Amino acid sequence: PSLRKLAGRADLLIGTAVNTSALADDSAYRKSTAKEFSSVTAENVMKWEAVEPERGVYDWSEADDLIRFAHDNGQAVRGHTLVWHSQLPTWLTSGVADGSIDSDELRAILKNHITTQVKHFKGKIYQWDVVNEVFEEDGTLRNSIWLQKLGPSYIADAFRWAHEADPKAKLFVNDYNVEGINAKSTAYYELAKQLRAEGVPVQGFGIQGHLGIQYGFPGDVAANLKRFDDLGLETAFTEVDVRMILPVDDTKLARQADDYRRLLDACLATAGCKSFTVWGHTDKYSWIPGVFDGQGAANLLDENYAPKPAYSAVREEL
Ligand code: XIL
Repeated sequence: PSLRKLAGRADLLIGTAVNTSALADDSAYRKSTAKEFSSVTAENVMKWEAVEPERGVYDWSEADDLIRFAHDNGQAVRGHTLVWHSQLPTWLTSGVADGSIDSDELRAILKNHITTQVKHFKGKIYQWDVVNEVFEEDGTLRNSIWLQKLGPSYIADAFRWAHEADPKAKLFVNDYNVEGINAKSTAYYELAKQLRAEGVPVQGFGIQGHLGIQYGFPGDVAANLKRFDDLGLETAFTEVDVRMILPVDDTKLARQADDYRRLLDACLATAGCKSFTVWGHTDKYSWIPGVFDGQGAANLLDENYAPKPAYSAVREEL
């Protein structure tokens, strides 16, 4: 049986980020995406620079292609992402930098962006990453244009606007290095607690899960998920990959398999953890080598779509 079949028996959605160029050009990629996964996330094509490359000019074409693929294959879609400091369109960043967009206008632009995008996909997205990567490692808010120009209230506003546009979608915060209990994940815990006390519609904590075997496995992952579960939030692993310093060898592959298994295990042990998404499923299209020098081989399948030990580990765990 496929991963999605096994996951279904465990009442879990198993997802993958999708590279839409590969989806268009590579039939083996289409096949593995459809066969193994019950959820998909756009790796890039729902980001702001992709959907509104020029001010007021929207391009939903690639995102809509992915929605159609998911529909045809009975897959759920995670929305990624509405508010982030990265992959913003140039018209926006340069307008803020040269002062032609002031704070009031920026707030109106953000509201319009969230409303337009969430409405466009209304009813088709089960979880939205509303804010992505808003904290630093030490638990202070990231010094993004959003914080600088709008102040910390942009976070609550973003959730309210998104909820208004699609009341049924589950709204998530999302970040990396928040697998275990640490200053950053605790900042999310406190933020979620505060927002919920204020009645702000935040419903989920997304843990990206970008690991590397050379760093060791983070501590207390299950305990971390449990504290969000106790708050009444859903949890999800949203971008799991486990990189290594190349070249690949059997010892590294075994360590990698273990890391995948342990993350999945923490999810399965948590009642409100209902989706587990990997950030690409074949080493053929991974973002890792382009960003982390000398590293790679982070996914479940190798560049020829052959299953790696991590694939077997995930199967056995499901
Ligand atoms: C990455 C994509 O995988 C790359 O193709 C792109 O060039 C940069 O962004 N955290 C996130 C994702 O939330 O959106 C990032 O995706 C990886 C880190």
